[in-house]
Amino acid sequence: MMLISIDDVRIHARRNLPAWFFDYVEGGAYSETTLRRNRAGFDRYAFLPRVLQSASRPDLSVQIMGMKWAMPVMPGPVGFCGLVHAGGEVLTARVASACGVPMGLSTFSIAPMEDVARATDPARIMLQLYVLKNRDIMRDLLVRARACGIGTLVLTVDTTVTPMRERDARNGFRGAGGLSLRQLVQMAGKPRWFARIMRHGQPQIGNIIRYNMGRTLFEQAANIGREMDPDLSWTDLAWLRDNWQGKLVVKGILHPDDAVQCAQAGVDGIVVSNHGGRQMDGALSTIEALPAIAAAVRARMTILLDGGVRYGTDVVKALALGAHGVMIGRPYVYGLAANGEQGVVDVLDYFADGIRSSLTLLGISTVNALHDQSARYMIQS
Ligand SMILES: Cc1cc2nc3c(=O)[nH]c(=O)nc-3n(C[C@H](O)[C@H](O)[C@H](O)COP(=O)(O)O)c2cc1C
Repeated sequence: MMLISIDDVRIHARRNLPAWFFDYVEGGAYSETTLRRNRAGFDRYAFLPRVLQSASRPDLSVQIMGMKWAMPVMPGPVGFCGLVHAGGEVLTARVASACGVPMGLSTFSIAPMEDVARATDPARIMLQLYVLKNRDIMRDLLVRARACGIGTLVLTVDTTVTPMRERDARNGFRGAGGLSLRQLVQMAGKPRWFARIMRHGQPQIGNIIRYNMGRTLFEQAANIGREMDPDLSWTDLAWLRDNWQGKLVVKGILHPDDAVQCAQAGVDGIVVSNHGGRQMDGALSTIEALPAIAAAVRARMTILLDGGVRYGTDVVKALALGAHGVMIGRPYVYGLAANGEQGVVDVLDYFADGIRSSLTLLGISTVNALHDQSARYMIQS
Protein backbone atom coordinates (compact mmCIF):
# COMPACT_ATOMS: atom_id res chain seq x y z
CA MET A 1 0.00 0.00 0.00
CA MET A 2 1.27 3.46 -0.85
CA LEU A 3 1.55 5.28 2.39
CA ILE A 4 0.84 9.01 2.26
CA SER A 5 2.09 10.11 5.66
CA ILE A 6 3.07 8.73 9.07
CA ASP A 7 0.21 10.74 10.49
CA ASP A 8 -2.26 8.72 8.38
CA VAL A 9 -0.83 5.49 9.82
CA ARG A 10 -1.05 7.01 13.27
CA ILE A 11 -4.76 7.64 12.84
CA HIS A 12 -5.26 4.09 11.60
CA ALA A 13 -3.31 2.81 14.62
CA ARG A 14 -5.48 4.81 17.00
CA ARG A 15 -8.57 3.15 15.56
CA ASN A 16 -7.13 -0.33 16.14
CA LEU A 17 -5.81 -0.02 19.70
CA PRO A 18 -7.56 0.47 23.05
CA ALA A 19 -7.34 4.17 23.91
CA TRP A 20 -5.17 3.66 27.01
CA PHE A 21 -2.63 1.66 25.02
CA PHE A 22 -2.53 4.12 22.15
CA ASP A 23 -1.95 6.87 24.76
CA TYR A 24 0.96 4.88 26.17
CA VAL A 25 2.60 4.76 22.75
CA GLU A 26 1.82 8.34 21.93
CA GLY A 27 2.58 10.16 25.16
CA GLY A 28 5.55 11.90 26.68
CA ALA A 29 6.66 13.16 30.10
CA TYR A 30 4.85 15.98 31.94
CA SER A 31 4.02 18.90 29.62
CA GLU A 32 5.28 16.97 26.55
CA THR A 33 7.40 19.98 25.60
CA THR A 34 10.33 17.83 24.52
CA LEU A 35 8.03 15.50 22.62
CA ARG A 36 6.83 18.47 20.55
CA ARG A 37 10.30 19.98 20.34
CA ASN A 38 11.68 16.83 18.73
CA ARG A 39 9.46 17.60 15.76
CA ALA A 40 9.84 21.37 15.81
CA GLY A 41 13.65 21.11 15.97
CA PHE A 42 13.78 19.82 12.41
CA ASP A 43 12.29 23.11 11.18
CA ARG A 44 15.38 24.97 12.37
CA TYR A 45 17.37 23.53 9.49
CA ALA A 46 16.57 24.16 5.84
CA PHE A 47 17.81 22.94 2.49
CA LEU A 48 19.10 25.00 -0.41
CA PRO A 49 18.75 22.39 -3.17
CA ARG A 50 21.38 22.13 -5.91
CA VAL A 51 20.13 21.49 -9.44
CA LEU A 52 21.44 19.94 -12.65
CA GLN A 53 23.43 17.32 -10.76
CA SER A 54 22.15 14.17 -12.50
CA ALA A 55 21.34 12.34 -9.25
CA SER A 56 18.26 10.35 -10.15
CA ARG A 57 19.30 7.04 -8.56
CA PRO A 58 20.96 7.76 -5.24
CA ASP A 59 22.59 4.98 -3.23
CA LEU A 60 20.95 4.78 0.22
CA SER A 61 23.26 2.19 1.72
CA VAL A 62 25.57 2.94 4.61
CA GLN A 63 28.22 1.03 6.51
CA ILE A 64 27.65 1.24 10.28
CA MET A 65 29.74 -0.55 12.92
CA GLY A 66 30.98 -2.98 10.31
CA MET A 67 27.51 -3.76 9.00
CA LYS A 68 25.86 -2.77 5.75
CA TRP A 69 22.46 -1.11 6.16
CA ALA A 70 20.42 -0.88 2.93
CA MET A 71 19.25 2.52 4.12
CA PRO A 72 20.11 4.64 7.15
CA VAL A 73 16.88 3.96 9.08
CA MET A 74 16.11 1.12 11.51
CA PRO A 75 13.29 0.31 13.93
CA GLY A 76 14.51 1.16 17.42
CA PRO A 77 13.75 -0.61 20.71
CA VAL A 78 10.13 -0.13 21.81
CA GLY A 79 8.59 -2.00 24.72
CA PHE A 80 5.45 -4.15 24.40
CA CYS A 81 5.47 -4.41 20.57
CA GLY A 82 3.88 -7.82 20.98
CA LEU A 83 0.88 -6.08 22.50
CA VAL A 84 0.65 -3.63 19.62
CA HIS A 85 0.20 -6.58 17.30
CA ALA A 86 0.45 -10.27 18.12
CA GLY A 87 4.03 -11.40 17.51
CA GLY A 88 5.05 -7.76 16.98
CA GLU A 89 8.74 -8.18 17.72
CA VAL A 90 9.20 -11.20 15.47
CA LEU A 91 7.30 -9.49 12.64
CA THR A 92 9.43 -6.37 12.99
CA ALA A 93 12.63 -8.42 12.97
CA ARG A 94 11.51 -10.17 9.77
CA VAL A 95 10.68 -6.89 8.06
CA ALA A 96 13.95 -5.26 9.13
CA SER A 97 15.85 -8.23 7.79
CA ALA A 98 13.96 -8.16 4.46
CA CYS A 99 14.66 -4.43 4.18
CA GLY A 100 18.37 -4.92 4.98
CA VAL A 101 18.48 -2.97 8.23
CA PRO A 102 19.09 -3.97 11.86
CA MET A 103 16.36 -4.06 14.47
CA GLY A 104 16.28 -2.76 18.03
CA LEU A 105 14.76 -5.19 20.53
CA SER A 106 13.55 -3.83 23.87
CA THR A 107 14.13 -5.45 27.26
CA PHE A 108 10.34 -5.04 27.55
CA SER A 109 9.72 -7.25 24.55
CA ILE A 110 6.82 -9.71 24.72
CA ALA A 111 8.74 -12.28 22.68
CA PRO A 112 11.89 -13.57 24.40
CA MET A 113 15.11 -12.62 22.64
CA GLU A 114 15.68 -16.28 21.67
CA ASP A 115 12.45 -16.32 19.58
CA VAL A 116 13.34 -13.08 17.82
CA ALA A 117 16.89 -14.27 17.18
CA ARG A 118 15.56 -17.42 15.51
CA ALA A 119 13.39 -15.34 13.16
CA THR A 120 16.24 -13.32 11.65
CA ASP A 121 20.00 -12.93 11.43
CA PRO A 122 20.75 -12.41 15.15
CA ALA A 123 23.95 -10.51 14.36
CA ARG A 124 21.67 -7.74 13.13
CA ILE A 125 19.65 -7.51 16.36
CA MET A 126 20.50 -4.63 18.66
CA LEU A 127 19.31 -5.80 22.06
CA GLN A 128 18.43 -2.94 24.38
CA LEU A 129 19.20 -3.43 28.06
CA TYR A 130 18.77 -1.46 31.22
CA VAL A 131 21.25 -1.84 34.04
CA LEU A 132 19.42 -3.83 36.70
CA LYS A 133 20.41 -3.79 40.35
CA ASN A 134 20.51 -7.58 40.34
CA ARG A 135 23.78 -8.33 38.57
CA ASP A 136 23.04 -12.07 38.38
CA ILE A 137 20.09 -11.28 36.12
CA MET A 138 22.24 -8.87 34.10
CA ARG A 139 24.91 -11.51 33.67
CA ASP A 140 22.36 -14.08 32.62
CA LEU A 141 20.87 -11.69 30.05
CA LEU A 142 24.35 -11.20 28.59
CA VAL A 143 24.99 -14.95 28.48
CA ARG A 144 21.65 -15.48 26.71
CA ALA A 145 22.33 -12.67 24.24
CA ARG A 146 25.71 -14.16 23.41
CA ALA A 147 24.28 -17.68 23.15
CA CYS A 148 21.71 -16.64 20.59
CA GLY A 149 24.24 -14.72 18.50
CA ILE A 150 23.07 -11.18 19.14
CA GLY A 151 25.65 -8.77 17.77
CA THR A 152 25.00 -5.49 19.54
CA LEU A 153 23.86 -4.36 22.98
CA VAL A 154 22.21 -1.00 23.42
CA LEU A 155 22.42 0.31 26.96
CA THR A 156 19.67 2.85 27.67
CA VAL A 157 20.89 5.41 30.18
CA ASP A 158 18.15 8.05 30.28
CA THR A 159 15.63 6.08 32.35
CA THR A 160 17.10 6.12 35.86
CA VAL A 161 13.64 7.11 37.07
CA THR A 162 10.31 7.31 35.30
CA PRO A 163 8.81 10.78 35.33
CA MET A 164 5.09 11.53 35.34
CA ARG A 165 3.45 10.58 32.08
CA GLU A 166 0.11 12.23 32.51
CA ARG A 167 -1.76 10.17 29.95
CA ASP A 168 -0.65 6.88 31.50
CA ALA A 169 -1.39 8.09 35.02
CA ARG A 170 -4.90 9.15 34.05
CA ASN A 171 -5.47 5.84 32.32
CA GLY A 172 -4.14 3.84 35.27
CA PHE A 173 -1.58 2.14 33.02
CA ARG A 174 1.12 0.19 34.87
CA GLY A 175 -0.80 0.61 38.10
CA ALA A 176 0.33 -2.11 40.46
CA GLY A 177 -3.19 -3.52 40.67
CA GLY A 178 -3.36 -4.53 37.00
CA LEU A 179 -6.06 -3.45 34.60
CA SER A 180 -8.73 -0.97 35.65
CA LEU A 181 -12.38 -1.37 34.69
CA ARG A 182 -11.96 1.46 32.21
CA GLN A 183 -9.03 -0.28 30.54
CA LEU A 184 -10.99 -3.54 30.35
CA VAL A 185 -13.95 -1.76 28.76
CA GLN A 186 -11.67 -0.17 26.17
CA MET A 187 -10.12 -3.57 25.42
CA ALA A 188 -13.54 -5.12 24.98
CA GLY A 189 -14.17 -2.43 22.36
CA LYS A 190 -11.29 -3.81 20.25
CA PRO A 191 -12.25 -7.49 19.95
CA ARG A 192 -10.10 -8.21 16.89
CA TRP A 193 -6.98 -6.82 18.54
CA PHE A 194 -7.81 -8.66 21.77
CA ALA A 195 -8.48 -12.00 20.07
CA ARG A 196 -5.21 -11.84 18.12
CA ILE A 197 -3.17 -11.04 21.20
CA MET A 198 -4.79 -13.72 23.35
CA ARG A 199 -4.28 -16.35 20.66
CA HIS A 200 -0.58 -16.16 21.62
CA GLY A 201 -1.53 -16.75 25.27
CA GLN A 202 -1.50 -14.35 28.19
CA PRO A 203 1.13 -11.71 27.28
CA GLN A 204 4.22 -11.57 29.47
CA ILE A 205 7.59 -9.86 29.24
CA GLY A 206 9.35 -12.70 27.47
CA ASN A 207 12.91 -11.72 28.33
CA ILE A 208 12.35 -11.89 32.08
CA ILE A 209 9.78 -14.65 32.59
CA ARG A 210 12.47 -16.97 33.94
CA TYR A 211 13.52 -14.56 36.69
CA ASN A 212 10.25 -14.89 38.66
CA MET A 213 9.41 -11.22 38.53
CA GLY A 214 5.66 -11.66 38.70
CA ARG A 215 2.91 -13.57 36.96
CA THR A 216 1.26 -10.84 34.94
CA LEU A 217 2.65 -8.35 32.49
CA PHE A 218 1.83 -5.54 34.90
CA GLU A 219 3.59 -7.14 37.85
CA GLN A 220 6.59 -7.88 35.67
CA ALA A 221 6.77 -4.32 34.32
CA ALA A 222 6.49 -2.88 37.82
CA ASN A 223 9.20 -5.23 39.13
CA ILE A 224 11.65 -4.46 36.32
CA GLY A 225 10.96 -0.79 36.99
CA ARG A 226 11.99 -1.33 40.61
CA GLU A 227 15.10 -3.26 39.49
CA MET A 228 16.35 -0.38 37.33
CA ASP A 229 19.29 1.21 39.05
CA PRO A 230 18.59 4.91 39.76
CA ASP A 231 22.25 5.39 40.69
CA LEU A 232 23.53 4.31 37.30
CA SER A 233 27.07 5.60 36.76
CA TRP A 234 30.08 5.43 34.44
CA THR A 235 31.36 2.55 36.58
CA ASP A 236 28.33 0.51 35.47
CA LEU A 237 29.09 1.29 31.85
CA ALA A 238 32.69 0.16 32.40
CA TRP A 239 31.33 -3.07 33.98
CA LEU A 240 29.18 -3.72 30.91
CA ARG A 241 32.06 -2.94 28.55
CA ASP A 242 34.19 -5.48 30.40
CA ASN A 243 31.46 -8.11 30.32
CA TRP A 244 30.27 -7.79 26.71
CA GLN A 245 32.59 -8.56 23.85
CA GLY A 246 30.18 -7.58 21.06
CA LYS A 247 29.34 -4.08 19.87
CA LEU A 248 28.10 -1.72 22.56
CA VAL A 249 25.93 1.34 22.00
CA VAL A 250 24.80 3.84 24.65
CA LYS A 251 21.32 5.27 24.08
CA GLY A 252 20.12 8.52 25.59
CA ILE A 253 22.99 10.98 25.05
CA LEU A 254 22.31 14.71 24.61
CA HIS A 255 25.43 16.43 26.00
CA PRO A 256 28.66 16.43 23.95
CA ASP A 257 30.76 15.85 27.09
CA ASP A 258 28.84 12.64 27.78
CA ALA A 259 29.43 11.61 24.17
CA VAL A 260 33.18 12.15 24.66
CA GLN A 261 33.12 10.13 27.88
CA CYS A 262 31.33 7.30 26.04
CA ALA A 263 34.09 7.31 23.43
CA GLN A 264 36.70 7.17 26.20
CA ALA A 265 34.82 4.27 27.81
CA GLY A 266 35.36 2.25 24.63
CA VAL A 267 31.77 2.04 23.42
CA ASP A 268 31.21 1.64 19.69
CA GLY A 269 28.35 4.08 19.28
CA ILE A 270 25.78 6.33 20.86
CA VAL A 271 22.17 7.15 20.19
CA VAL A 272 21.45 10.85 20.48
CA SER A 273 18.06 10.44 22.12
CA ASN A 274 15.71 11.85 24.70
CA HIS A 275 13.60 8.68 24.69
CA GLY A 276 11.07 10.21 22.33
CA GLY A 277 10.23 12.95 24.85
CA ARG A 278 9.17 10.36 27.43
CA GLN A 279 11.84 11.06 30.06
CA MET A 280 13.39 14.49 30.77
CA ASP A 281 10.70 16.99 29.83
CA GLY A 282 12.18 20.32 28.77
CA ALA A 283 15.28 18.67 27.28
CA LEU A 284 16.65 19.84 23.97
CA SER A 285 15.41 18.17 20.81
CA THR A 286 17.76 15.54 19.47
CA ILE A 287 18.32 17.22 16.10
CA GLU A 288 19.36 20.40 17.92
CA ALA A 289 21.70 18.44 20.20
CA LEU A 290 23.31 16.60 17.30
CA PRO A 291 25.73 19.16 15.75
CA ALA A 292 27.77 19.70 18.92
CA ILE A 293 27.94 15.96 19.54
CA ALA A 294 29.00 15.30 15.95
CA ALA A 295 31.73 17.94 16.26
CA ALA A 296 33.01 16.24 19.41
CA VAL A 297 32.97 12.53 18.49
CA ARG A 298 31.92 11.81 14.90
CA ALA A 299 35.43 10.89 13.84
CA ARG A 300 35.76 8.42 16.71
CA MET A 301 32.47 6.59 16.96
CA THR A 302 29.09 5.82 15.42
CA ILE A 303 26.33 8.34 16.02
CA LEU A 304 22.70 7.32 15.70
CA LEU A 305 19.78 9.66 16.39
CA ASP A 306 16.14 9.18 17.21
CA GLY A 307 13.17 11.35 18.21
CA GLY A 308 10.50 12.87 16.03
CA VAL A 309 11.76 11.42 12.74
CA ARG A 310 8.64 11.32 10.57
CA TYR A 311 9.84 12.16 7.03
CA GLY A 312 12.68 11.15 4.75
CA THR A 313 13.79 14.78 4.90
CA ASP A 314 14.27 14.42 8.69
CA VAL A 315 16.63 11.51 8.06
CA VAL A 316 18.53 13.56 5.48
CA LYS A 317 18.87 16.46 7.94
CA ALA A 318 20.11 14.12 10.67
CA LEU A 319 22.75 12.64 8.38
CA ALA A 320 23.74 16.06 7.10
CA LEU A 321 24.24 17.22 10.68
CA GLY A 322 26.47 14.29 11.53
CA ALA A 323 24.43 11.16 12.35
CA HIS A 324 25.50 7.96 10.63
CA GLY A 325 22.01 6.48 10.93
CA VAL A 326 18.60 7.00 12.46
CA MET A 327 16.23 4.98 14.61
CA ILE A 328 12.47 5.33 14.46
CA GLY A 329 10.14 4.51 17.34
CA ARG A 330 6.48 5.43 17.09
CA PRO A 331 6.29 5.40 13.26
CA TYR A 332 6.85 1.67 12.93
CA VAL A 333 4.70 0.98 15.99
CA TYR A 334 1.85 2.80 14.24
CA GLY A 335 2.54 0.62 11.19
CA LEU A 336 2.37 -2.54 13.31
CA ALA A 337 -0.90 -1.44 14.91
CA ALA A 338 -2.41 -0.37 11.60
CA ASN A 339 -1.51 -3.37 9.50
CA GLY A 340 0.85 -5.82 11.19
CA GLU A 341 3.90 -6.95 9.22
CA GLN A 342 2.82 -5.16 6.03
CA GLY A 343 2.32 -1.97 8.05
CA VAL A 344 6.00 -2.00 9.07
CA VAL A 345 7.06 -2.71 5.48
CA ASP A 346 5.01 0.28 4.33
CA VAL A 347 6.60 2.58 6.91
CA LEU A 348 10.16 1.56 6.00
CA ASP A 349 9.35 1.91 2.28
CA TYR A 350 7.93 5.35 2.97
CA PHE A 351 11.22 6.45 4.54
CA ALA A 352 13.28 4.92 1.73
CA ASP A 353 11.18 6.76 -0.89
CA GLY A 354 11.44 10.01 1.04
CA ILE A 355 15.21 9.79 1.40
CA ARG A 356 15.62 8.86 -2.26
CA SER A 357 13.54 11.74 -3.60
CA SER A 358 15.24 14.20 -1.23
CA LEU A 359 18.70 13.19 -2.37
CA THR A 360 17.73 13.52 -6.01
CA LEU A 361 16.22 16.95 -5.43
CA LEU A 362 19.26 18.07 -3.46
CA GLY A 363 21.54 16.83 -6.24
CA ILE A 364 23.38 14.28 -4.08
CA SER A 365 24.01 10.74 -5.26
CA THR A 366 24.87 8.86 -2.06
CA VAL A 367 23.79 9.23 1.56
CA ASN A 368 27.45 8.91 2.46
CA ALA A 369 28.11 12.29 0.89
CA LEU A 370 25.44 14.03 2.94
CA HIS A 371 27.60 15.09 5.85
CA ASP A 372 30.77 15.95 3.94
CA GLN A 373 28.89 18.13 1.49
CA SER A 374 26.31 19.61 3.85
CA ALA A 375 27.71 23.13 3.53
CA ARG A 376 26.75 23.02 -0.16
CA TYR A 377 23.03 22.54 0.39
CA MET A 378 21.96 23.13 3.97
CA ILE A 379 21.61 26.10 6.28
CA GLN A 380 20.34 26.83 9.76
CA SER A 381 17.17 28.84 9.26
C1 LIG B 1 5.82 3.08 23.40
C2 LIG B 1 7.29 3.27 23.50
C3 LIG B 1 8.06 2.36 24.23
C4 LIG B 1 9.44 2.52 24.30
N1 LIG B 1 10.18 1.56 24.95
C5 LIG B 1 11.52 1.68 24.98
C6 LIG B 1 12.31 0.70 25.60
O1 LIG B 1 11.81 -0.31 26.09
N2 LIG B 1 13.66 0.88 25.62
C7 LIG B 1 14.26 1.97 25.07
O2 LIG B 1 15.48 2.10 25.10
N3 LIG B 1 13.53 2.92 24.45
C8 LIG B 1 12.18 2.81 24.40
N4 LIG B 1 11.45 3.77 23.77
C9 LIG B 1 12.13 4.91 23.13
C10 LIG B 1 12.46 4.61 21.67
O3 LIG B 1 13.48 3.67 21.56
C11 LIG B 1 12.92 5.88 20.94
O4 LIG B 1 13.95 6.50 21.69
C12 LIG B 1 11.81 6.90 20.69
O5 LIG B 1 10.58 6.26 20.45
C13 LIG B 1 12.17 7.75 19.48
O6 LIG B 1 11.25 8.73 19.24
P1 LIG B 1 10.04 8.60 18.16
O7 LIG B 1 9.02 7.72 18.79
O8 LIG B 1 9.59 10.02 18.05
O9 LIG B 1 10.61 8.04 16.88
C14 LIG B 1 10.06 3.63 23.67
C15 LIG B 1 9.28 4.52 22.96
C16 LIG B 1 7.93 4.36 22.85
C17 LIG B 1 7.13 5.33 22.04
